[in-house]
Amino acid sequence: MINQEEKKIALETAEKLKSRYEQPKAALMPLLYEVQARDGYISPEAENEVAELLGISPTEVHESVTFYPLLFEKPVGKYHIQFCHNISCSLLGAEPLIDLLQKELGVGQGEVTEDGLFSYQRAECLGCCADAPVMLINEELFGRLNEETVRRIIEQIRAGKKPDNYTPLTETNEIEDPVLSFNFRVPNASNLKIAEARGAYKAMRTVLSEFEPEKIIETIKSAGLRGMGGAGFPAGLKWSFVPKDPSLTKYLCVNCDESEPGTFKDREIMRRDPHRLIEASVITAKAFGASRAYVYIRREFYEEKKIFEKALKEAYEAGFLGENILDSGVSVDIYTHPGAGAYICGEETGLINSIEGKKGWPRIKPPFPAVVGLFNKPTVVNNVETLSNIPYIINNGVEAYRKRGTEKSPGTKLFGVSGHVKRPGIYELPMGFSLRELIYGICGGITEGRALKAVIPGGSSVPVLKADEIDVDLDFDSLEAVGTYLGSGGVIVMDDSVSMPWVLEVLARFYAHESCGQCTPCREGVVWMYEILHRMNSGRGRKGDLELLLDLANNVEGQTICPLGAAAAWPVQAMLKKFPDEFKRLCR
Ligand SMILES: Cc1cc2nc3c(=O)[nH]c(=O)nc-3n(C[C@H](O)[C@H](O)[C@H](O)COP(=O)(O)O)c2cc1C
Repeated sequence: MINQEEKKIALETAEKLKSRYEQPKAALMPLLYEVQARDGYISPEAENEVAELLGISPTEVHESVTFYPLLFEKPVGKYHIQFCHNISCSLLGAEPLIDLLQKELGVGQGEVTEDGLFSYQRAECLGCCADAPVMLINEELFGRLNEETVRRIIEQIRAGKKPDNYTPLTETNEIEDPVLSFNFRVPNASNLKIAEARGAYKAMRTVLSEFEPEKIIETIKSAGLRGMGGAGFPAGLKWSFVPKDPSLTKYLCVNCDESEPGTFKDREIMRRDPHRLIEASVITAKAFGASRAYVYIRREFYEEKKIFEKALKEAYEAGFLGENILDSGVSVDIYTHPGAGAYICGEETGLINSIEGKKGWPRIKPPFPAVVGLFNKPTVVNNVETLSNIPYIINNGVEAYRKRGTEKSPGTKLFGVSGHVKRPGIYELPMGFSLRELIYGICGGITEGRALKAVIPGGSSVPVLKADEIDVDLDFDSLEAVGTYLGSGGVIVMDDSVSMPWVLEVLARFYAHESCGQCTPCREGVVWMYEILHRMNSGRGRKGDLELLLDLANNVEGQTICPLGAAAAWPVQAMLKKFPDEFKRLCR
């Protein structure tokens, strides 16, 4: 039972949160997190309380509580551990560490220790793949874990001490005239004074005082900036689809859901250069007439969200956000909105539904968000990295931006490399950079003197490349020409000790877990793909399994509202084609 004082606080919090949105229900997720922080979990009574505060039905609240993995329906330990078991972490030994953790704690997945101190859950990718294996304890990330560090962290917490920090700063490169990583190596560049001294908000000032919306759109179109969230859609073109009617409210949604395994670029931008994203968001908002932006940040990015919110506060105080920015007549508010551990919310219409306080089910398109989006208003959804290119383009001009990259994939891109390389990290490189050079040059080659076996070049969903296929350039067209995709630029490298059926099982487990359940082919088919792979890898493969697996993949691809089904099917199709013998051996 909550007391009167807690009731009053909840009411005030709800009112404050509701004021950020056009519809009260949109405050659901942030309000549920407040309640979860207060009570430790979300009880049926708390669901009723939240429903009343938002004026919605308890069923609507329950629907979200049961959909999102990071809303807890029962109490967790004082220290709740999320251990990543996805591909980049598993390649570097996550499974034995999870076994060890379980032994140390004496509890299984989802259980709480008797003293109430610990609970743990397996997590899908935590978006910190260069520092694998990683775990989150409450809001703190621990990386590059091994047996000794896992044991020590648990011991330190048990002894009431603050555990040592095991999260090294993700490795980056130096590149001449950086577009995206300009501030990555600068200490405290998330601080406004330091960022401003290095040119932050210069492009915003130029645009606010000199550019009409049409000129912004034309500049970004001529630069050829493409979407970095995976699909590569031209940013300026997307903005141009938004109706011009000034009486319509319009929204910008910035996609920082970043949950595709192997992907951790947006995280670095949020951590190391948040002001670049804020500046870019204001420029984008002016381009198509948005007055509000929501930055959707995956829940697991606790630190990044804090850094970004601090930067937002600084920007408001400096007059770079809010009403009539720098006397330009342009007003833009930016709010963060938290995710809750569901990959599907990275899909743009799933993201919109999630902001609206619903489960993250993708919408049927058309209508496209540019016309009917958030709260049914014209909306642009752009990725963090896409937008972060904009200040450079405005400051340096289209020609300077196009000097690097290729005709159809201009500029530079952040590539996140994880797995069996000597120097995993986040590297800004010109589009069209050689994949071989990235692996063997920048990343120092394969660990422990082993040979390369395979590379997934663009996040877990894109088709795998064999070791003899890495003489390819990293840009949208070159990768498509060899049957794969640039995707999110998450490069996952595997050495010759790795079993491909095992890799595929790990990936299929992810998609089975993340299927939102809306479309039957995906809900059923993706789970079956995982079940078959699990059976094969457990020594129970059957004759005909490969044909069945391929048939399932072919019948999921293209049969769903959003491309998650395809994203689950592509790895299966490619692995079976490229490594058939390894799979055949398991089916007798
Ligand atoms: C299942 C799924 C997950 C996605 N996850 C993300 C994501 O985490 N971040 C992102 O920017 N785009 C993601 N996308 C792509 C978005 O739907 C959308 O294309 C993108 O946010 C548009 O921004 P851009 O044009 O700037 O790339 C995802 C798509 C699908 C189908």
